Amino acid sequence: MSYDLVVIGTGPGGYVCAIRAAQLGLKVAVVEKRKTFGGTCLNIGCIPSKAILHASDKFAEAEHDLASFGVLTSPPKLDLPAFMKHKDETVAANVNGVAFLFKKNKIDAFHGLGTIKTPQLVEVTAEDGTKSGVETKAIVIATGSEAAPLPGAEIDEKIIVTSTGALSFDKVPGKLLIIGAGVIGLELGSVWKRLGAEVTVVEFLDRIVPGMDGEVAKSFQRILEKQGFAFRLGHKVTKVERTKTGASVTIEPTAGGEAASLDADVVLVAIGRRPFTEGLGLEALGIAMERGRVVTDPQFRTNVAQIYAIGDAVAGPMLAHKAEDEGIAVAEIIAGQHGHVNYEAIPSVVYTMPEVATVGATEEQLKEQGIAYRVGKFPFTANGRARAMRQTEGFVKILADAASDRVLGVHILGASAGELIAEAVVLMEFGGSAEDLARTCHAHPTMSEAVREAALSVDKRAIHM
Ligand code: FAD
Ligand code: NAI
Repeated sequence: MSYDLVVIGTGPGGYVCAIRAAQLGLKVAVVEKRKTFGGTCLNIGCIPSKAILHASDKFAEAEHDLASFGVLTSPPKLDLPAFMKHKDETVAANVNGVAFLFKKNKIDAFHGLGTIKTPQLVEVTAEDGTKSGVETKAIVIATGSEAAPLPGAEIDEKIIVTSTGALSFDKVPGKLLIIGAGVIGLELGSVWKRLGAEVTVVEFLDRIVPGMDGEVAKSFQRILEKQGFAFRLGHKVTKVERTKTGASVTIEPTAGGEAASLDADVVLVAIGRRPFTEGLGLEALGIAMERGRVVTDPQFRTNVAQIYAIGDAVAGPMLAHKAEDEGIAVAEIIAGQHGHVNYEAIPSVVYTMPEVATVGATEEQLKEQGIAYRVGKFPFTANGRARAMRQTEGFVKILADAASDRVLGVHILGASAGELIAEAVVLMEFGGSAEDLARTCHAHPTMSEAVREAALSVDKRAIHM
């Protein structure tokens, strides 16, 4: 069997790449070691986590919020198997959707571990050990990432778990201890907090969500604390031990000082992810790597001709939409077009309640780069729709170049922030200014009016503040 392109891995990077290449007339095959397509994102990442975030938000709403709308119910009860069924059905619909798209686009799929023997040959080892060879003119590595291990914490996915275990608990943990105040810790911590767990987050740094705009992160932390999250910032974990009933975690202040011990029923290790390239045979091929990531040039080429790499396996944010955009761009490049990804305009969303959504530079980054900027801010407390929905927490913050007024960064803390950020991304793609946004008509009453008001506020002329 011979192809124009073989894509190894069918996560959002790989499956989107395969579809785009097929659209452009290439004969394409994919290789996937998992039983279902869709990678981390569809099977054990974005999709199942959003399914249980949504369901647990409904639970919290029924428990705490509905009465304030005059909707009286008896206290909600959790049917955890039904809750998990919703997640499983959501995953199944999505992974089956990818299988359908492969058929529709006449993409052949090989199930098994892909190993690159030469730039023209991928060997596929099926689960039963049988091997087959797939010939190709080009290869895209889209093998994604895995949870970074914490030395000394032995993952069993029951008591000491990664995100994968935390998506499938068979009962609500009494005490959940989370190591790492990043995206996974706060999203999955929110799910189990809403369902009744006592959640403590131990974070190495003295702040949560590193990399996010500092002012936004501080407000976000306060809101999470109000929801009942306990944070032990500036602490490192030195030991994680299984006990008869759960685990014991030893922590020490990062700056030095007395160690303390915390007991938990379950410990979630969420200290980042690392690229997954095991079994690909990259060393034998001499493919250049840097800190575990495959090194590529701006056209996604590795140092070996006709072998490309994208997504979590290469540099950049480990986000599904970044992987997808690289998948499209590399397919276009392989087909002789001019694929391109604008890394300045990749949004990032934390799907807690409220959500946090950001695109572009933070205030800290602009200061560091010595760029003069103006800030426009608008709180959701002053937005009519937010009041009607009783979702007034948070604000919109826009950073614009002081001289040109070009928007350099937008940060939103609030309900639906993940949807609201889209207009900021489009604006930034087109090199738009705060004034462009401020002069654009926004429907009333919507949360998006707060985005416009923040743009007006860059020039100190917000109407409703
Ligand atoms: P992956 O999705 O990891 O896919 C790689 C695929 O390659 C896998 O299916 C793997 O089985 C296969 N593979 C690996 N090696 C081989 C081999 N040798 N042969 C054959 N197959 C192989 N990102 C967001 O943007 N939004 C979110 O809300 C979000 N939520 C997340 C929640 C969780 C809990 C986690 C863990 C991650 C989340 N992410 C989210 C990150 C997102 O899942 C990744 O950025 C994205 O999946 C990366 O896509 P990818 O195609 O590079 O790799
Ligand atoms: P992360 O990088 O977001 O956060 C990890 C946190 O752990 C950091 O705050 C870090 O300082 C801390 N940390 C590291 N080592 C530590 C230690 N030894 N002790 C205590 N704290 C320690 O990583 P996370 O949350 O595991 O997520 C991995 C990646 O998955 C994310 O970076 C993101 O790319 C992706 N993801 C994206 C989501 C989204 O877009 N909504 C949702 C979930 C994951």
